[in-house]
Amino acid sequence: MLLSSQGVATRPQSASHGDVGRSIEDAVRQSGLDWTILRPGGFNSNTYAWAESVRAQRTVAAPFGDVGLPTIDPADVAEVAAATLREDGHAGRIYELTGPALTTPRQQAEALGDALGEPIRFAELTRDEARAQMLRFMPEPVVETTLAILGEPTPAEQRVSPDVERVLGRAPRTFADWARRNTAAFR
Ligand SMILES: NC(=O)c1ccc[n+]([C@@H]2O[C@H](COP(=O)([O-])OP(=O)(O)OC[C@H]3O[C@@H](n4cnc5c(N)ncnc54)[C@H](OP(=O)(O)O)[C@@H]3O)[C@@H](O)[C@H]2O)c1
Repeated sequence: MLLSSQGVATRPQSASHGDVGRSIEDAVRQSGLDWTILRPGGFNSNTYAWAESVRAQRTVAAPFGDVGLPTIDPADVAEVAAATLREDGHAGRIYELTGPALTTPRQQAEALGDALGEPIRFAELTRDEARAQMLRFMPEPVVETTLAILGEPTPAEQRVSPDVERVLGRAPRTFADWARRNTAAFR
């Protein structure tokens, strides 16, 4: 089982998301072993990047506040991974993993506020402000592709995938659920 990324399919021209990811997937496919590839979209846990400003100022600063993506709960990625390793029938499959609905950064901030029981202010960053912030912890090509996904997602990146439900027999968890289980990081 390989934990890959949705970007391998949706950003094939990107050196960081397409080329590297594709070469790793190819190596696994050509290994001669049974394989299953998971391609999740953005993780709900990426919002840990907001933890410090939420703790200190009850503020989320993020770009593209009203662009929705069906981000996924990493616990669902783990559960699908466990199922593919423990059950028959997953060999040679590629699963695209998303959450159950499009959620915007503004809605994520609201859900974190609901989970905390306190309002959280949303401060929209410009693309340049977000780029400068992300360059502190991500290489430049990864930053550019990530900004493109967050700001101008393709229809494939905004599609809610049926694969979590197909594998687990239940809908993927919501962002609100993730927020309720992770309040400690934001309090
Ligand atoms: N985040 C997303 O939106 C997203 C979307 C699609 C796919 N993915 C994929 O999902 C995976 C995890 O992503 P992430 O964003 O959660 O990454 P992350 O925040 O960088 O976390 C990576 C984790 O792996 C651990 N780790 C790194 N090298 C290790 C090693 N050699 N042995 C044991 N543990 C090691 C790190 O431990 P330390 O903290 O101790 O270094 C860290 O806990 C990556 O493969 C990524 O490409 C992520």
